[in-house]
Amino acid sequence: MIIESLRDNDLKIRSGTIEEGSHGFTGARLAKALVEHSSGPPEPSWCVIKYCPAVPLKHKRESRRHWAALREAPEEFRRQHLAEIAFPTVSCSQDAFVVGQFKADGIPLGKADPGQLADACKTIWRTMLLGWTGKDYNSEQTTVAGLLTRELGDGFKTDGWLHDWARKRGLFTPDLLELPGESEPLPNPWRLFTKDTPATRREIHCLVGRTHGDLHGDNILVPTYDGIADANHFRLIDLATYEARAPLSRDLAALLVSLCWREIGKCSPGIQSTVLTYLERDKRNKRDKRLDDGMHGWVRKIIDALRGPAFQFVLDRRGDPEHWHRQLKVSLLAQAMLHSAYSTGTPDARRWCARLAGRLTRVLLGPVNPSAARPEFFDAGEDLGKTGKAAGVIRSSSATRNPRRHWRRSVGHALSRPSGRPDWTTG
Ligand SMILES: Nc1ncnc2c1ncn2[C@@H]1O[C@H](COP(=O)(O)OP(=O)(O)O)[C@@H](O)[C@H]1O
Ligand SMILES: [Mg+2]
Repeated sequence: MIIESLRDNDLKIRSGTIEEGSHGFTGARLAKALVEHSSGPPEPSWCVIKYCPAVPLKHKRESRRHWAALREAPEEFRRQHLAEIAFPTVSCSQDAFVVGQFKADGIPLGKADPGQLADACKTIWRTMLLGWTGKDYNSEQTTVAGLLTRELGDGFKTDGWLHDWARKRGLFTPDLLELPGESEPLPNPWRLFTKDTPATRREIHCLVGRTHGDLHGDNILVPTYDGIADANHFRLIDLATYEARAPLSRDLAALLVSLCWREIGKCSPGIQSTVLTYLERDKRNKRDKRLDDGMHGWVRKIIDALRGPAFQFVLDRRGDPEHWHRQLKVSLLAQAMLHSAYSTGTPDARRWCARLAGRLTRVLLGPVNPSAARPEFFDAGEDLGKTGKAAGVIRSSSATRNPRRHWRRSVGHALSRPSGRPDWTTG
């Protein structure tokens, strides 16, 4: 089917060039191949061929949203920083489909040397704000609870994976949670929606604009030469969650948490707590040396590299700092909740994210009265899958159903036998 569809577009895959990559987070299968014109000058170019099995919601929209991102972006940003589509989407049986993109140069940002991450983040994020958002931003009125629901996305709808995850852990009942590492109970973020209080109804004038929607370290590729990342030439891939008008704090929060959570999870309790306090505040206070000295410099620099340019963007456009800070906290809260549930994280990283979620909820709701309700113990690092109470989580679950065999059957045979398994994707 793929071969036929390519032929319709005067394209073919040069034989012997297919290299199978490792699987992605979402169960998609990827391969690299040299695609050329069947007639005239061959103009061969390396492409990434992505087979997307039918999984709920996200991937159904992969090519549609990717096309929208390309269509709506300012020309220069599109040309330089968005993954380009190489051939039209091929529909396969059972709602699966194949997307062909030109291969972008580089390694995932998340794999770059931690010492280079902050500078790279600053460059990428500034370019995204100035070159992608540019003048196309707007303000939308919402509430703390409304924004949080939006930021948690489809997974938090009833029957969504995140909703299931929280329900199986009994997270919808307690008002207060006792979290490992925290000396005091914290308000339960998973209850925030069910509470109708002045704090949850509090208004936010939310800045919205073009948004990748899943901007973690593996969805940004940066060329590297001799170990030095060239962030000016970054490219965004995996545009299945692109939105033209989403909260501008979403990408910031996703990148921040995804780049740091694993490393922070490995740190001492003191460092972990210091980063939490730093994120509870709106910006760096250079006079507070205690916080600066209490965590790794590169983590603080990443946080500053992302929060700084965004805040400047808001100020330059006469936005309201107070509303921006609140909006960013809600986006961070959503990412902390999501990451506390991702099985791709270590137990310690997930625990730290659960603490971040509790701490941000306390900032948004105001101080809690610990005697008002009985706190319940919750350990986000515990794997219920092992005790048979709940299935493992989502981001990897479809990939664990023997995706390699699925891929071979669905795409591999249609193309040719993959010659090897070089690890050019990192999945
Ligand atoms: N256009 C591309 N150019 C180069 N590498 C790519 C491209 N698309 C995907 N990859 C590689 O494959 C990995 C997984 O692809 P991605 O589209 O992000 O799939 P998933 O939906 O599984 O996250 C990426 O992290 C990247 O390493
Ligand atoms: Mg991806």
